[in-house]
Amino acid sequence: MAKKTAGTFQKLKDNGEKIAMLTAYDYSTAQVLESAGIDGILVGDSLAQVVLGHENTYNVTLEEMLIFVKAVARGAKNSFIVGDMPFMTYNTSVERGLGNISQMIKAGANAVKLEGCNDYILTLVKRCVESGIPILGHLGFTPQLMNTIGGYKIQGKSFDAAEKILESAKKLEEAGAFAVVLELMPAESAEYITKNLNIPTIGIGAGAGCSGQIVVIDDILGKFTDFTPKFVKKYANLHETILESVKKYSAEVKEGIFPSKEQSFEMKEEEREKLYADK
Ligand code: KIV
Repeated sequence: MAKKTAGTFQKLKDNGEKIAMLTAYDYSTAQVLESAGIDGILVGDSLAQVVLGHENTYNVTLEEMLIFVKAVARGAKNSFIVGDMPFMTYNTSVERGLGNISQMIKAGANAVKLEGCNDYILTLVKRCVESGIPILGHLGFTPQLMNTIGGYKIQGKSFDAAEKILESAKKLEEAGAFAVVLELMPAESAEYITKNLNIPTIGIGAGAGCSGQIVVIDDILGKFTDFTPKFVKKYANLHETILESVKKYSAEVKEGIFPSKEQSFEMKEEEREKLYADK
């Protein structure tokens, strides 16, 4: 199958087809997502929490992100991969931001995601797009601005607030972003924003009216259990599956059931005889 691109997202939206994105952080999961034909893979900075065990996304570094982007790129060579720029790796200056963003692309990402919208971000988006780097915007609840927002708060709750998000989304569209993530807002607001934009919206906790959806894979597989947001639907309970498997393995090791002959290698008969011959 031909590799999907940022342009595929627009085509899917224009054809009235929903866009399905998921996060992935490692090689073997990326292989599964590619086999499933997912439209896009985000190597999200959510890995700070679900992979590295941090409380929020502030503590993941660019160097760490690059390791996971490389692993996903090796596992999903034919998929459209978006690398998430971590906190303060693109905010200090356009030149430094471009340098860090180019590292993401060199690591195997086909696009990058940036949070927020202000004049600085818009300049950076334009410079990236001019340099051939597709940009996925991120509005609504933006985890890297959590200290300003004051926690996990639903955004765009009023008409005025939804209008403001739409205004930002339009600016990102004008700057050349190929799509925008809308996180944690009433379904009505996200639908309104989606209807008034040309580029696709990718929702997370933003209802069914977006052009597509994204969720954290560890959440929908029931592997990450520290907290489960209301918008997560669990398609599996990997925490339970892994727990039961590990308990069974441990018990079988202690009882001498594992490994059995089936999982062992054997010497040739004549060599074995020498082992047991009287010395
Ligand atoms: O880091 C992340 O996983 C995200 C989401 C949009 C899922 O930013």
